[in-house]
Amino acid sequence: MSPATRTKRIGLLTGGGDCPGLNAVIWSVVRGAATAGAEIVGIVDGFEGLVGGVNGLNTRVLGSSDVRDIFAQGGTVLGTTNRGNPFRYVAGDGGTAEEDRGDEVVRNITTLGLEGLIAIGGDGSLAIAHELAERGARVIGVPKTIDNDLGSTDTTFGFFTAVEVAMQALDRLKTTGESHDRVMILEVMGRYAGWIALHAGLVGGAHIVLIPEIPYSLDSVLQRIRGRWQEERRNFTLVVVAEGAHPAGGETSHIEEATSGRVARVGGAALQLEAELKRAFAARWPRAVPPEVRTTVLGHIQRGGSPCAYDRLISLRFGAEAVRLAIAGQWGRMVCLRGTEIKSVPLADGIRRPHNVDIDGQLLAQARAVGICLGD
Ligand code: F6P
Repeated sequence: MSPATRTKRIGLLTGGGDCPGLNAVIWSVVRGAATAGAEIVGIVDGFEGLVGGVNGLNTRVLGSSDVRDIFAQGGTVLGTTNRGNPFRYVAGDGGTAEEDRGDEVVRNITTLGLEGLIAIGGDGSLAIAHELAERGARVIGVPKTIDNDLGSTDTTFGFFTAVEVAMQALDRLKTTGESHDRVMILEVMGRYAGWIALHAGLVGGAHIVLIPEIPYSLDSVLQRIRGRWQEERRNFTLVVVAEGAHPAGGETSHIEEATSGRVARVGGAALQLEAELKRAFAARWPRAVPPEVRTTVLGHIQRGGSPCAYDRLISLRFGAEAVRLAIAGQWGRMVCLRGTEIKSVPLADGIRRPHNVDIDGQLLAQARAVGICLGD
């Protein structure tokens, strides 16, 4: 077969933490490629599958029959890892020494006969994809993360599913919190961005929402809880805390600090708030019996399971556009959502700035307008 008629082979991987909608993107890419007469080679376990060495390359061809039932499934059939950064590679033999295996990955993409690679990932994975592109690889990025913290796209897929799960948790905490007249705290994910907390708080009836973008004052939180008692004779207060939230003058709390090849794990904000509230209630609460406080950390429940309708749609559309770009030879771009249109931007723009809640924006103004305390 001449090079002109040879079937295009395109690599596809999912990198970083998983997220609802990954399988829907895979489905869409495989279906789109089949329609265009191209072949998709799935890379197993993210960039790890492209680093040779002890485990060798780890790939499998994906045809339409391989993805038949995966569209609505959570997780990723290709597997993923938030280790395996080829530029700071730590071999899985118990060692901690980092090696730069980036050039090897670029070579392996060619060795596998791939035109290029579609990398579905968050900020970390897309930064890797961009560095590979700088070293000569042809790459297209697809923005995923429940955190919604990637710039250059109105939203990432997976985010609204996480909000939905957090909203359902709040609905449930409300009924038990009301029965016992307690302060109920829910910690949600999001790393250094407060999108999940803010959206879930708005649609889940929270009285207080604490996000990393607004360092909170304990006095402001106490005032709201006290106000609930004064206005409604209720201790019941629903509080959403983003895992990256922190008091003014304090810092984001981490469950694990960063180690070789691994980012720090954010978390602990809700338990910190619970401890602060209990101390404050014991020291200066106007009534003999202070409110009881209970904390729930929602954790990976937000990341597991089936994507909601909106995330399915965005995933399908991102996948279709990624294939279109690859077939058209428009490498070095990241697909994105702008308004209601799927577009693309240079990959470098996609990872340039984190996307945080705008503290002067509409969403926060509307949260304040409906009486939500933001801790400031
Ligand atoms: O980036 C997505 C995310 O779920 C964050 O919200 C959270 O802090 C982190 O990943 C958890 O990572 P891990 O799965 O490694 O615990």
